[in-house]
Amino acid sequence: MNKLKVLISKEEIERKAAELAAELRTDYRDKNPLLIGALKGCFIFMSDLIRKLDIPLEVDFVRVSSYGAGIQTSGEIKLEYGTKTPIEGRHVLVIEDIVDSGLTVRFLLDYFGRQEPSSLKLCAMFDKPSRRELDVTIDYTGFTVPDVFVVGYGLDLDEKFRYLPDLCILEE
Ligand code: IMP
Ligand code: MG
Repeated sequence: MNKLKVLISKEEIERKAAELAAELRTDYRDKNPLLIGALKGCFIFMSDLIRKLDIPLEVDFVRVSSYGAGIQTSGEIKLEYGTKTPIEGRHVLVIEDIVDSGLTVRFLLDYFGRQEPSSLKLCAMFDKPSRRELDVTIDYTGFTVPDVFVVGYGLDLDEKFRYLPDLCILEE
């Protein structure tokens, strides 16, 4: 049976989302940015962020998968479906739940970078730098987390636990 321990409470998450939104509001006001969320993990963070941002913007989504289930990523990234919105000339902000090895965001930044956006930045709620394999710059980071597997606030383990309001550590 898995035991869950709260690592970051929903109140801390709420405060951080508001801080990030305030920063983004300053940077993206009058730019009609295109926020592109990486599904599925981003869905709660992105909806929190957008409602707090309170500026005109557009949204789109991509679905990427790294092959295989469980805790380890396989290293191979596949685009399950991409965006329809033209990227050229747009101020694009990629929204991720967590950056771990960096493979997913590296893939996405390369993919959108080739489509000539006016600007391209990355916002991730959680950063796990201890496991980084590729060097990526996270322009807007919420929390740095230790080298543990976390669930909740949109993050899953085999599709479970996304609904939890706190970010939790799964203990065996
Ligand atoms: P990366 O490609 O290794 O950076 O991993 C990125 C993706 O792996 C994230 O978008 C998450 O979906 C998933 N992931 C990485 N670490 C965790 C974790 O601790 N809990 C849940 N999902 C994670
Ligand atoms: Mg996942």
